[in-house]
Amino acid sequence: MSAVSAENAVTLRPMTGQDIDRCLVLERELFAEEGPWSAQAFRTELSSDTHYLVAVDSSGEIVGYAGLAVLGRQGDAGGVETEVRTIAVAPRARRRGIGTALLTALLSKADELDAPVFLEVRVDNQPALRLYERNGFQQIGVRKRYYRPVGVDAYTMRREARSARARAEEATG
Ligand SMILES: CC(C)(COP(=O)(O)OP(=O)(O)OC[C@H]1O[C@@H](n2cnc3c(N)ncnc32)[C@H](O)[C@@H]1OP(=O)(O)O)[C@@H](O)C(=O)NCCC(=O)NCCS
Repeated sequence: MSAVSAENAVTLRPMTGQDIDRCLVLERELFAEEGPWSAQAFRTELSSDTHYLVAVDSSGEIVGYAGLAVLGRQGDAGGVETEVRTIAVAPRARRRGIGTALLTALLSKADELDAPVFLEVRVDNQPALRLYERNGFQQIGVRKRYYRPVGVDAYTMRREARSARARAEEATG
């Protein structure tokens, strides 16, 4: 699908059911405090209106994954919205642009649909907050004790739909 860089040789491709076992290992390592997803949760996501990707390194190992859900349909009163459901990069593969590459691919899909993107992020998750802010997300609210069992708050963030961003740019000249 796409390589982050020749040097890192990481490729993005759609997640399949066969990837779930490896993703579960990362999920349990990275989201132990927030209630890691089960295999069934991944299967339900993959069978819904979603776009899930994995990042695969040159040895074929999955070093990251991310997913976007599409909520509603074109023509619905409120229009289509999307939500970043998850994004994760193995600790050993971080700060090499893989998180950015995964997020960029999800955002391209949202832009194809001209849909806003929403997400929740732990208020103390600086790496993720930075990543989202650098990619056009703004904080729009707080959800108290959103993450269980740890009981930490979440920021809700939004990135405007492509047409709304274009209108804002026109207005500011
Ligand atoms: C958040 C996460 C996906 C970022 O993945 P990554 O591959 O390291 O991200 P990138 O290399 O593309 O970094 C992009 C930018 O994010 C920010 N960022 C990433 N890690 C950071 C850190 N540890 N501290 C501060 N900023 C950080 C930086 O602005 C960075 O750009 P820079 O390297 O040019 O400074 C990764 O840290 C992760 O998997 N965390 C655990 C799971 C998680 O919290 N997911 C988000 C749930 S809402």
